[in-house]
Amino acid sequence: MVHRPAVGVILGSGLGAFADALESRLEIPYCDIPHWPKSTAVGHAGKLVFGELSGVPTVVMSGRSHLYEGYTPQQIVIGVRAMASLGIQALVVTNAAGGINLEYARGALVLISDHINLQGTNPLIGPNDDSLGPRFPDMTEAYSARFRGIAQQVAAGLGFSLPAGVYAALSGPNYETPAEIRYLRAIGADLVGMSTVAEVIAANHMSVPVLAISCVTNMAAGVTSEKINHEEVLETGRQVHGRFVELLKGVVPKLVGA
Ligand code: HPA
Repeated sequence: MVHRPAVGVILGSGLGAFADALESRLEIPYCDIPHWPKSTAVGHAGKLVFGELSGVPTVVMSGRSHLYEGYTPQQIVIGVRAMASLGIQALVVTNAAGGINLEYARGALVLISDHINLQGTNPLIGPNDDSLGPRFPDMTEAYSARFRGIAQQVAAGLGFSLPAGVYAALSGPNYETPAEIRYLRAIGADLVGMSTVAEVIAANHMSVPVLAISCVTNMAAGVTSEKINHEEVLETGRQVHGRFVELLKGVVPKLVGA
């Protein structure tokens, strides 16, 4: 049994099956862990999976919680803080996102190079726990450039390229209006979603370097004439799942000890 994970992974909508790639698995349903928020979103499994990937002890959150479910930002980052307390040296965050950048297409995998927090809240609001990290954490390199380089190398070996872009986070749960997407493009966003930033802020607070990968499950509102629905988001996740799993299997073991 693996007690000390070196890498933590958070899986987004429709990406839960990566956890099955781990060897020597130990699975703990969130409902068995005190204080852990249950994930209520469709497509999120709701369990913590410990195991090994190419011999590297890894812990996977299969399913996460979101602001739109009614959880506080502090509840949303319980998982990150638990994994950081267990000693992870790298956090990999995945999500489903809408594509704002016109160079992306549905099904593209995109590295997050930076984010814009438009969720109107922050998990670090309130008294600072100095044992976790500083009151005013630096976010200059919230997403590790070195990790992005590793991911791009692995992707090249698998035969595809991994562009990088800026992720804008809104609270949801509605998808954006076309006017909101034009605004997000104007302020420099390439991707839009409803998760990730709280987790990345909590990881940076605890000095855990982050790799984040978005799956462009749909082009954002107004980019095409099509409407957006959650079933399409899940379906695209299923279509790219194989490529996503191969990428993660290649990348995760390379994030430690290098
Ligand atoms: N907007 C916000 N979140 C999303 C989207 C989107 O278009 N697609 C998947 N998650």
